[in-house]
Amino acid sequence: MTGAYRKIVEVLEGKTVSPPPVWLMRQAGRYLPEYRETRAAAGSFLDLCYTPDLAVEVTLQPIRRYGFDAAILFSDILVIPDALHRNVRFVQGEGPQMDPIDVAGIQGLKSEGVIAHLAPVMETVRRLRRELPEETTLLGFCGAPWTVATYMIAGHGTPDQAPARLFAYRHPEAFEKLLSLLAEISAEYLVAQIDAGADAVQIFDSWAGVLGEKEFEAYAVKPVARMIEIIRRQRPQAKIIAFAKGAGLNLKSYRQKTGADAIGLDWSVPLSFAVELQKDGPVQGNLDPMRVVAGGKSLEDGIDAILDKLGNGPLIFNLGHGITPEANPDHVRQLIERVRGANA
Ligand code: CP3
Repeated sequence: MTGAYRKIVEVLEGKTVSPPPVWLMRQAGRYLPEYRETRAAAGSFLDLCYTPDLAVEVTLQPIRRYGFDAAILFSDILVIPDALHRNVRFVQGEGPQMDPIDVAGIQGLKSEGVIAHLAPVMETVRRLRRELPEETTLLGFCGAPWTVATYMIAGHGTPDQAPARLFAYRHPEAFEKLLSLLAEISAEYLVAQIDAGADAVQIFDSWAGVLGEKEFEAYAVKPVARMIEIIRRQRPQAKIIAFAKGAGLNLKSYRQKTGADAIGLDWSVPLSFAVELQKDGPVQGNLDPMRVVAGGKSLEDGIDAILDKLGNGPLIFNLGHGITPEANPDHVRQLIERVRGANA
């Protein structure tokens, strides 16, 4: 640590920063013309993730343009299955694909070599910390075991993660084995990102919302709690944000059971409930990304409601999920100005 004042780190320590610091999930992405240009020149999406020059460039693009309070490492949650030799490819217009894994495939998974395969990501993190402004928080990330497993089992994205839910009922032992392997690898990966210079890390459990009560406990809470335990054993000071999208009422105990410093909230979380969650610690969120597409009064009203209800406690202003390619870059500027202007 350099001792620099980084607002998001302050919030993660439980402090209220006014106006709240702001970054957006997927802030480096297709809504930005400069991203589309670098992406086109990179060739494949994985080449973009594994070429530090390019990954640094696209991470910095939204920082240069808007001065967000955090930069998030440019990579993807699916580099873990890629490092596990699942033949991951990103097909233009079709989303990510990989070889679907079965019980025998799970028995054959090996964690050796995974961190070495991801060495270019750590190089990107090191360079980013050197190139970013002192005051900008650098976030590392990975997917939560459940969300990564949904892609590994189906072999692609699905609207309801039915293949993974079904697999878990049919083959509970193999499924638990997959989750614990992913938890261990992902924890080591986040430790490596922290050692390379990430100030904090976020664990994305984007598909937590499809799990029943018991399954949420077994597949969303337990593996993330295990990850955080492994990380904290090695790096007691690690700052961790856990984002379990669609977790609803389960969020009440999620922070305490996982040990996360902050919890991410999607836009379906009622602000009255968010206020309760904030009494236990920092929250991040939760503007509907569609408001950034729509702009105008819908954007302003959405921002104002969040600031009004959550602005007097530890808050990292963010969207409730990733910004979409249709978002208007001017609306993003308006968002930041409104968040920063409101309580100044
Ligand atoms: O937030 C950032 O700016 C950092 C980069 C980042 C990406 N993916 C880049 C990306 C992060 C944090 C992610 C996380 C991610 N990836 C998640 C969790 C968060 C979420 O949005 O739910 C998930 C589920 C994935 C898996 C993934 N990667 C999908 C389903 C897709 C295809 C859908 C899509 O949006 O195109 C990707 C590809 C991807 N990852 C893109 C980007 C910028 C677009 C690909 C391209 O540019 O061609």
